Amino acid sequence: MYSNIFDTHAHYDDSRFDEDRTELLSSLFEGSVSSIINCGCDLKSSLETVSLTEMHPFLYGAVGVHPHEAEETTDEDLERIKELYKKEKIIAVGEIGLDYFYDFSPRKKQIEVFRKQIITANELGLPVIIHDREAHEDTMNILKELKPKGVVHCFSGSAEMAKEILKLGLYVGIGGAVTFKNARKPVEVVEILPLDRLLLETDAPYMTPVPFRGKRCDSSHIAYTAEKIAEIKGVDVQALIDKCAENAKKLFVINENHNKIK
Ligand code: NI
Repeated sequence: MYSNIFDTHAHYDDSRFDEDRTELLSSLFEGSVSSIINCGCDLKSSLETVSLTEMHPFLYGAVGVHPHEAEETTDEDLERIKELYKKEKIIAVGEIGLDYFYDFSPRKKQIEVFRKQIITANELGLPVIIHDREAHEDTMNILKELKPKGVVHCFSGSAEMAKEILKLGLYVGIGGAVTFKNARKPVEVVEILPLDRLLLETDAPYMTPVPFRGKRCDSSHIAYTAEKIAEIKGVDVQALIDKCAENAKKLFVINENHNKIK
């Protein structure tokens, strides 16, 4: 069994974990998982993220507004979320970004809320966790202009775009999609990614890697994603997991005592 898995992106506030959330998280931390970042998507799930961080010593939180929720979000919501960044275990602004695949919020509003949150992150010196689906051009233009530090999570762009992201100093999050049978782009991206800019993630309960595809995903499933990446890179699986955990601690500024370094 592997150890030291750092899941940089999960949604344990999701209702699919209602029945066994506490037991599941405890068992993960007793097993292969060392740390998890839970990502909020709106004010409600950001508040839930804060309570999860208070219950589990190795669970950290990112809070923010997802592009799907941009339309319903008020300035007051954003102000209340801003207060949450003062908390000890809230270590990033996320998940934020643009989603032109579903277009659940008007694009103009998505862009407005995305930009506001990057500006907040830059003011506070916090990294951002970025969601980009079918919105590569606008995402890149905003990142080039505002230059946050952070990660593009569940990266779905080309190897060419990954190179642009690396140039901006950002990290690339790789999840279960790299294990899918038809995965071509994620494999090409992993091929060109330097190991010191790679983060492992699940997006649990979604994006479950093969051989559990279709089932509920949890952070222990990262083992399968890591095995696939290690195979592509020709490195040892545990060494890869350790390197990615080190990268996560560096980006999210978490010290040996599991505290945010101010
Ligand atoms: Ni997510």
